[in-house]
Amino acid sequence: MEVVIRPTAERAARLVARLVADALRDNPTLVLGLATGATMEPVYAELARLHREERLDFSHCTTFNLDEYIGLAPEDPRSYHAVMREALFRHVNLGGAATHLPDGMATDVASACARYEQRIRACGGIDLQLLGIGQSGHIGFNEPLSALRSRTREKALSPVTLAQNARYFGGDPARVPRRAITMGVGTILEARRCVALVTGAHKAAILARAVEGPLGAMVSASALQLHPSCVVVSDEAAASQLSGTDYYRWTFAHEPEWQAYQDA
Ligand code: F6R
Repeated sequence: MEVVIRPTAERAARLVARLVADALRDNPTLVLGLATGATMEPVYAELARLHREERLDFSHCTTFNLDEYIGLAPEDPRSYHAVMREALFRHVNLGGAATHLPDGMATDVASACARYEQRIRACGGIDLQLLGIGQSGHIGFNEPLSALRSRTREKALSPVTLAQNARYFGGDPARVPRRAITMGVGTILEARRCVALVTGAHKAAILARAVEGPLGAMVSASALQLHPSCVVVSDEAAASQLSGTDYYRWTFAHEPEWQAYQDA
């Protein structure tokens, strides 16, 4: 795992967008894993700008989102289908059949989850998975005690997550759907590369637990410590409780792979 700290949330998001754009330029048939949430919004805005102004080409790219609420139809503006359409899909040239999200309206959820895994496999697996980290330590909707080898499945959301996401449901945690379909921790760990973006002082404590704390199911994001190619990009505020920041800054300043990103 590597940690990259940028001065602001905007610059952290811009760096993540550049990592995606460079991966897509290197491999036009990139299979890209996507996350929703406030942290990712500036990443998608920057990718849309790169498409508009620099012709970043998504026409051969395939995407798989991490999760979707159970009980929200794709037309519901609060569904992750709709959020992704508004944030990214309608702004870039992704093919109509190239975007995938779990089916929150499936009558047979277990079969829908198995099909989702099968579709990821049929596309050759995820090349680059974008991740946010929730206040509960989740990646995707893998709430505390999610098995570190879990696969795509139905998951009950924790009270911490219901409170975190209440802002999209009129501020009332009781109106947030209680259950979701999420890729499992094991599914996420199979992506060839993971890029997590964590910004804001409110994420400082959970980021420190995820990156520098013990590996364990109470903080699903800590499983990223097992991943052979994972970078966590944060702003100064989210990095404020990390203890190894001198080393992380040194690595970013000196390692060859980061030289092209110094101004990002
Ligand atoms: C949503 C998802 C979640 C979010 C996390 C952070 O698809 O995968 O894990 O990334 O809850 O959300 P924000 O960015 O809103 O703090």
